[in-house]
Amino acid sequence: MELGVIGLGTMGANLARNAARNGAKVILYNRTPEKTDLFMKSYGKEGSFVPCKSFEEFTKAFESRKAILMMVDAGEAVDKVVEGLVPFLRENDILIDGGNSHYSDTERRAAALREKKIQFIGMGISGGEEGALNGPSMMPGGDADAYAYLGPLLTGMAASDGIGGKCVTYIGPGGSGHFVKMVHNGIEYALMQLIAECYDLLKNLGGFDNEGLSEIFVAWNESDELHSYLAEITAKIFTKKEKDNYVIDLIADAAGQKGTGKWTTQAALEYGVAVPTINAAVDARILSGSLAERAEAKSFPVMVDDTEPIPRHMKFRSSIRSGMDLSSICAYGQGFALIEKASIENGWKLNLSEIARIWRGGCIIRSSLLSHLQDAYSLDSGIAKAANRVLLDRFRGDKQKEWRQVVELGISWNVPVPALSASLTYFDALTRGRLPQNLIQAQRDFFGSHSYERIDKKGSFHTEWNTQ
Ligand code: 6PG
Repeated sequence: MELGVIGLGTMGANLARNAARNGAKVILYNRTPEKTDLFMKSYGKEGSFVPCKSFEEFTKAFESRKAILMMVDAGEAVDKVVEGLVPFLRENDILIDGGNSHYSDTERRAAALREKKIQFIGMGISGGEEGALNGPSMMPGGDADAYAYLGPLLTGMAASDGIGGKCVTYIGPGGSGHFVKMVHNGIEYALMQLIAECYDLLKNLGGFDNEGLSEIFVAWNESDELHSYLAEITAKIFTKKEKDNYVIDLIADAAGQKGTGKWTTQAALEYGVAVPTINAAVDARILSGSLAERAEAKSFPVMVDDTEPIPRHMKFRSSIRSGMDLSSICAYGQGFALIEKASIENGWKLNLSEIARIWRGGCIIRSSLLSHLQDAYSLDSGIAKAANRVLLDRFRGDKQKEWRQVVELGISWNVPVPALSASLTYFDALTRGRLPQNLIQAQRDFFGSHSYERIDKKGSFHTEWNTQ
């Protein structure tokens, strides 16, 4: 098998090495040839690599059907590479965009390339640098025939799912692969924000120091319920020192974003799916970066409710853990609901259970929860029911009460908990039974004759609200 890789940044270089380890002859190109030279110097002996300096040389280096993985920045750079390559491609050659492209760009590119009979795969790749080298989770969408050709190599390269399979599957047509990766990142934002809020509460209300915090995250990662890649790296972050200082304490508190979280919230609005925990996480990053506003607001009066007692060490730890657990379930649920809705509207026929399975390893949001979600979304209703029961059981009893207490504490003590509270209110809205939106309907009808539906009879109704 031959694979071309364009773009030898860290991700591209590591994927090229991973492909070579899996027996591929890897043809390399980078816009600046120095990077290709450096790659060859550092890794050239690891496998069969063919360094090239132009698109012509690059495309001529293939002996068989061309399969080219583009690892360049999402946006214009992808269009430029496609444009430059197309004159050298033949019918049925395959272009793969492995970046975090917006799914609508992928749809557009796929349509344009289809006219030229060139196959296109938009493939989300998760796992960062380490994953790219040793096994990422990959979400390829687009031409099924192209996937049939690439499948064996991608399967070799992907992470193990822990149950005998690999973290790659054909996601579906069009831009579905990039859509699923986008939602993966939306969930990633939500989980990271939830962890950050737990950190804030544990540190500033619970009084835990960095070593204590690390110990908590180690315990989470070792537990059945909260075992996750993000818990694992968070535990390591807290103990990392630079001379006598903990690195975490030296880092500025404003988080940026490349955009996939924002895209998830935009898509959720477009598809009409509520993803409040993901929205909260995106807003939290935006607010953290609003430095001028934050500086000004420092002089605003803050009145805390200091009658709200903060539970002691172990009790507090356990409450936070409950909050994290139940909030995370809500965050994953929101992401899957968005994927499901997009799948239905676009006719993608996505397999949610398979998506959960390929997220079990390699990717940033891998966690023990995904095995339950895989079962819960599986077509086998026996397993699905059992898995749903497992997850629902987690919402019973003290855990849910602790979740509520944690949110209450944050609110009483001026510790912002946007994602924890968004998950809780998401749960409450779903489970409440009767919501107050009857009043919203009445107001809309009052000022705009928008009509409303009733619970006692079918149809659309209008009331003359001002007449007695
Ligand atoms: C992954 C990550 C990866 C990257 C994000 C960071 O799955 O490996 O999601 O794609 O780390 O793009 O995104 P932000 O810069 O938006 O946080």
